[in-house]
Amino acid sequence: MPDPTAPVAFPQDRTCPYQPPASYDPLRAARPLARITLYDGREAWLVTGHAAARDLLADPRLSSDRTRPGFPAPTARFAAVRSRTAALLGVDDPEHRAQRRTVAADFTLKRAVALRPRIQQIVDERLDAMIAQGPPAELVSAFALPVPSMVICALLGIPYADHDFFETQSRRLLRGPSAADVEDARARLEEYLGELIDRKHEDPGTGLLDDLVRRGLREGAVDRDHLVSMAIILLVAGHETTANMISLGTYTLLRHPGRLAELRADPALLPAAVEELMRVLSIADGLLRVAVEDIEVAGTTIRAGDGVLFATSVINRDETVYPDPDALDWHRSARHHVAFGFGIHQCLGQNLARTELEIALGTLFERLPGLRLAAPADEIPFKPGDTIQGMLELPVTW
Ligand code: HEM
Repeated sequence: MPDPTAPVAFPQDRTCPYQPPASYDPLRAARPLARITLYDGREAWLVTGHAAARDLLADPRLSSDRTRPGFPAPTARFAAVRSRTAALLGVDDPEHRAQRRTVAADFTLKRAVALRPRIQQIVDERLDAMIAQGPPAELVSAFALPVPSMVICALLGIPYADHDFFETQSRRLLRGPSAADVEDARARLEEYLGELIDRKHEDPGTGLLDDLVRRGLREGAVDRDHLVSMAIILLVAGHETTANMISLGTYTLLRHPGRLAELRADPALLPAAVEELMRVLSIADGLLRVAVEDIEVAGTTIRAGDGVLFATSVINRDETVYPDPDALDWHRSARHHVAFGFGIHQCLGQNLARTELEIALGTLFERLPGLRLAAPADEIPFKPGDTIQGMLELPVTW
């Protein structure tokens, strides 16, 4: 008999791409905190309760600085790059606040609304091309990846012509086979974005990176290394995550024909459906922190130096907040999920991501009423548990 109180290994692969692994069931029973073992055998805390998660994600006694001793590494590849400071995601206040202020104005809801026509145009063009060549089609390469890639390129001022290069390096960065591979991918992205920033310094254009170069480099306020680090996080976080939501969202809708029919009958449900898909899919499943002081949580003490992870897939299925949590329900209030995180690091791109998802999923199912999987559902490959969740491929026909 396995010991039900023994620490659970985290992360683990999902068996169904839109459900947490069944092996997380003990974690779902142990709220708000559980013990886990990481890939290297080290133990850490896993936050599993919704209220505790929101309290702790807003608690300055938890640090995002991955260079601190005790910072947890969920994979060997993460351990290899954690000596490097990541812009925004890897810094604490007050430095974080200062960094976020330099980009916050470009990611407001108003900006996302203003980008709608451009996003719609990109979505329409990709669908025109896919429809012209099919059926069938491989939806990840034909649609789910190019749409957010094109959008973030337009926003940042990065030439989309280089997409093969930066998509490949981003993929290696997030799930390369070895630590050396990840380091190499990071070095290549740094070199590429460094050269791009140098060119923008000479001849600034109209993108967000151009603005940052203009405002920062010329005033001497920010250095080149920082700008490169900021460019990497905006580029990588800006396309990989949303691409995974589009592919996995499409797969999930095709696996729930009743919910899809409901959505088709009433497109006004789309914003609520995007929120509910974000909750259920929880594609960024395992946010990382380290305690810098002792913290009491529900009668347990997290000690300074302990690693703390947040299982968004488990937190977002806390039945005290979401009754019947495994069901997809467009009529529940999925708001307050933590799929975009919470607290000071809550996703900078969430307004943009929601807008992209509404337009991409809404237009895809409107234009292709007969869209269906072109392979048996359980044979379609999806990503392993130690990276952002999503489909590796999505063969479809219509
Ligand atoms: C559906 C797609 C997306 C998901 C699921 C997602 C998820 C997340 C999550 C969970 C965090 C918090 C991480 C933590 O607290 O450790 C985060 C932060 C962040 N996201 Fe997203 N994201 C998405 C789309 C985007 C887009 C389109 C951008 C555009 C640039 C973006 C940029 C960022 C940045 C810069 C941060 C760091 C913010 C900070 O530390 O202040 N994300 N994202």
